[in-house]
Amino acid sequence: MNELNPTLSIVGAGPGDPELITIKGLKAIQKADVILYDALASKELLEQARPDCKLVYVGKRKGKKEFSQDEINQLIVFYATRYGHVVRLKGGDPNVFGRGHEELEYAARRGVTIQVVPGVSSSIAAPSAAGIPITKRGVNESFWVVTGTLSSGELSNDIYLAAQSSATVIVLMGMSHLNTITSIFQDSRSPFEPIAIIQNATLPEQKVVTGTMMNIHQQVLENDISSPAVIVIGKVVNERTEMENLIPVEIHNTLQR
Ligand SMILES: C[S@@+](CC[C@H](N)C(=O)[O-])C[C@H]1O[C@@H](n2cnc3c(N)ncnc32)[C@H](O)[C@@H]1O
Repeated sequence: MNELNPTLSIVGAGPGDPELITIKGLKAIQKADVILYDALASKELLEQARPDCKLVYVGKRKGKKEFSQDEINQLIVFYATRYGHVVRLKGGDPNVFGRGHEELEYAARRGVTIQVVPGVSSSIAAPSAAGIPITKRGVNESFWVVTGTLSSGELSNDIYLAAQSSATVIVLMGMSHLNTITSIFQDSRSPFEPIAIIQNATLPEQKVVTGTMMNIHQQVLENDISSPAVIVIGKVVNERTEMENLIPVEIHNTLQR
């Protein structure tokens, strides 16, 4: 019998379209003994696992409380020590507001071999998939990626600082604070500051609305925009080129397992 080598691969699944996972990420899924996944994980990616791979859901449960971070950490170590190679599949990049490093530290301290497979973050993918350049020569010099909502539920103070800069500001988890965010930018920049909101980026149901601090709320209501969504604020929004959605196609088994 092979000796078990408890291993954790924290794999970035990309923003939604299953084809936007990396080749390294896909290979890790194909080799995994156990995959821990949550609600945003695509069915197509889970179908790439070996038939004997254990799929463990650690997302929100209907009518029950969410798994706590502590519970997920413990499950990772439990499965790694009993089954071998655990893949923890996470949306976007595991280290962009993804708590990937907390899981990694916990497992490493308990003797589990660790690796991280970076992923395509929605912070970058959403504007690109909507035809908005994240940087454009002569238009902007930097971009900030900010969380709209802290773990306490409050708005991040960094939103105020970002609004005072000339940077393009990309807000994740910001929809529940949209009113406050637009009024901050209205005060610090201008009521006509451009804004775009991209919901379900890179998926067939992707929706994009654009406007200004004054009229974006109407766009959101009319188009029924909600989470998961990325908010993009700055002049690059005016550079948008409308395109067809990137339609996900099947992942073909062209990669050797
Ligand atoms: C907990 S954060 C995780 C971010 C992730 N690690 C990443 O790099 O994309 C979840 C937030 O990411 C954004 N997000 C993730 N996937 C998205 C998608 N397909 N379309 C729009 N926003 C998305 C939303 O703002 C959502 O509330």
